[in-house]
Amino acid sequence: MAVARVPLIAGNWKMNLDHQQAIAFVQKLHWALKEAKHLDGTVEVGLFPPFTDLRTVQTLLDADKIPFALGAQDLSTKDSGAYTGEVSGAFLKKLNCTYVIIGHSERREYHAETDEIVAAKVQAALRHGLVPVICVGETLEQREESGPTAISVGQLEVALEGVPASAEIVVAYEPVWAIGTGQVASPEQAQEVCAALRAVIAAKLGQDAADRTRVLYGGSVKSGNIASFMREPDVDGALVGGASLVVDEFAAIIRFQKHVGV
Ligand code: 13P
Repeated sequence: MAVARVPLIAGNWKMNLDHQQAIAFVQKLHWALKEAKHLDGTVEVGLFPPFTDLRTVQTLLDADKIPFALGAQDLSTKDSGAYTGEVSGAFLKKLNCTYVIIGHSERREYHAETDEIVAAKVQAALRHGLVPVICVGETLEQREESGPTAISVGQLEVALEGVPASAEIVVAYEPVWAIGTGQVASPEQAQEVCAALRAVIAAKLGQDAADRTRVLYGGSVKSGNIASFMREPDVDGALVGGASLVVDEFAAIIRFQKHVGV
């Protein structure tokens, strides 16, 4: 039986927008969406600013009653202690973060995050009541060698080790070859992998979890291609990088999701 999942449009700012720029951005985005009555609960908007912006953005969301969810881009596997430079999930929770991105390909590549580290971070997020946004995806070489689904399926299987069936998680399929390249996956390619990832969730956490868990596509999502992804049955939203930094473009992506229409 099909289960309605509220689409999630998540903006991963990566290392862009300082806390002052963040204020202007969030206010403009809210204005763009408020006018068009697009914040009625049929789509969830998530913002993932750099750590140094979180307090500022949280204060603004609270003060102006702006219904965007807040998330961080990473967290420590540890809860506290002598880990210079690390950020605890406890701190993120205290800042009203709902989500935390884990295992983004840029962390896997530039910070040598293994599947095991990703799994430990998922556990850390759940310990602190944060919803992990678990990122998986293959490089072009891996796709050619192992096919479209094997790498993402393998990464998700490890990340879900020890995750209870009742846990809320989000999964994001981000093919490395489509990130920041403008070389977007086709809707059919996204659907194929997202369906395979939902099958992993069903096998590991049960059918209920598979039915309610949002599986996102990420990689060169723009206002011009979001509708084609949202038409796919196993794509429940998008994790947007570059286009999430441009107010009008991100607002247009949010408006184009399936329950709101255009
Ligand atoms: P782009 O949308 O810039 O391709 O980035 C995708 C991404 O990595 C989101 O996490």
